[in-house]
Amino acid sequence: MLNFEYSIPTKIFFGRDKINVLGQQLKKYGTKVLLVYGGGSIKRNGIYDKVSSILNENHISYFELSGVEPNPRIETVRKGAELCRQNSIDIVLAIGGGSSIDCAKVVAAAAYYDGEPWDIVTDPGKIAKVLPIASILTLSATGSEMDTFAVITNMNTNEKLGTGHPDMAPKFSILDPTYTYSVPANQTAAGTADIMSHIFEAYFEKTKEAYLQNRMAEALLKTCIKYGKIAIEEPENYEARANLMWASSLAINGLLSYGKGSKWSVHPMEHELSAFYDITHGVGLAILTPHWMKYVLDETTLVNFVEYGINVWNIDENQDKYQIANMAIEKTKEYFISLGIPSKLSEVGIEEVKLEKMAEQATRFGKVGNFKPLDKQDVLSIFKAAF
Ligand code: NZQ
Ligand code: ZN
Repeated sequence: MLNFEYSIPTKIFFGRDKINVLGQQLKKYGTKVLLVYGGGSIKRNGIYDKVSSILNENHISYFELSGVEPNPRIETVRKGAELCRQNSIDIVLAIGGGSSIDCAKVVAAAAYYDGEPWDIVTDPGKIAKVLPIASILTLSATGSEMDTFAVITNMNTNEKLGTGHPDMAPKFSILDPTYTYSVPANQTAAGTADIMSHIFEAYFEKTKEAYLQNRMAEALLKTCIKYGKIAIEEPENYEARANLMWASSLAINGLLSYGKGSKWSVHPMEHELSAFYDITHGVGLAILTPHWMKYVLDETTLVNFVEYGINVWNIDENQDKYQIANMAIEKTKEYFISLGIPSKLSEVGIEEVKLEKMAEQATRFGKVGNFKPLDKQDVLSIFKAAF
């Protein structure tokens, strides 16, 4: 296991009606709030009305940045930063999924940055100060509610890039599983695939003696496999929504990667798909993952896939190791299909002519991943296999 420093500073309020802490928690930071939310789901499911009545009761004034796009755009960040400066905002409150939370994070950093906000996406080193951020999570997927990262898209340059800063971790996040009852089946499926992919990024890694982290990863994977399906079949199943919600946060808050040298593989490839085609992040991940697994399976990675097959999919260990690994990969693919996620890039509108350009972009900062480092040709082969 590698050395590490442990810090997960976000305070989590988890469970039914935890929204009731909102007023008291916000007032610790001030009385002027910028609400950041998406295309209107929070107005349809009543969360917006609940939040605004709590703010009014607590004499907290609020301004709004609405219409945050899935795959949030830099133009929206610019608008939000301007609203913070014009209104002397004290705290930025995201209500939604990863897109609203990521947008809120970069808005909070851009509010203190004098130049063009895209600079702090391309170079996180330029982030010096960040307004406090809080979140009310409505979709279990990205883990943005408890991590320090944000992903922003610039459609003019077809770039989707991650940025981050320790102060971009939300001060607190409210996780009420009933707020995810209205998430449609396709987003529930994509969210489950995203959580699983975050776990895979930490799990498929070669650091020795990280036994504990790997067993925790397997427990989280089993949780997603069990409850992803139930949540789709029974959207108002509290147990399923609660388990997925907590798995979303634990998958990426550092718990699984502390002590391991993780450099992600499938995410950098997927981000090119959504940068060029604006597809749903979790769908791109689910399509690529089994093909990435097949491509990186060799003598050096076999042990990891055998462990995965036996511990996560309960495959009989008394058989050829490659057979176990390949069965595990097949089960992964079948599982995503059983959630209703398309299995080919061509099914989600991606064109073959762009595959090479996207492979080039994915590797522009060097090889992808460290489980088995991938160059442009490798990425292109995975894209072609997934096409
Ligand atoms: O915009 P609204 O109307 O709110 O609708 C959203 C959106 O259409 C809807 N939705 C959310 N909660 C709902 C709901 N609909 C009904 N009921 C609810 N309770 O779902 C759609 C997708 O929302 P979005 O926030 O885009 O999804 P997600 O949480 O998957 O976030 C995706 C973004 O996060 C980035 C992705 O790249 C993508 O841009 N990521 C962020 C990460 C991070 N910060 O650490 C890591 C991830 O790997 C990921 O890259
Ligand atoms: Zn992700």
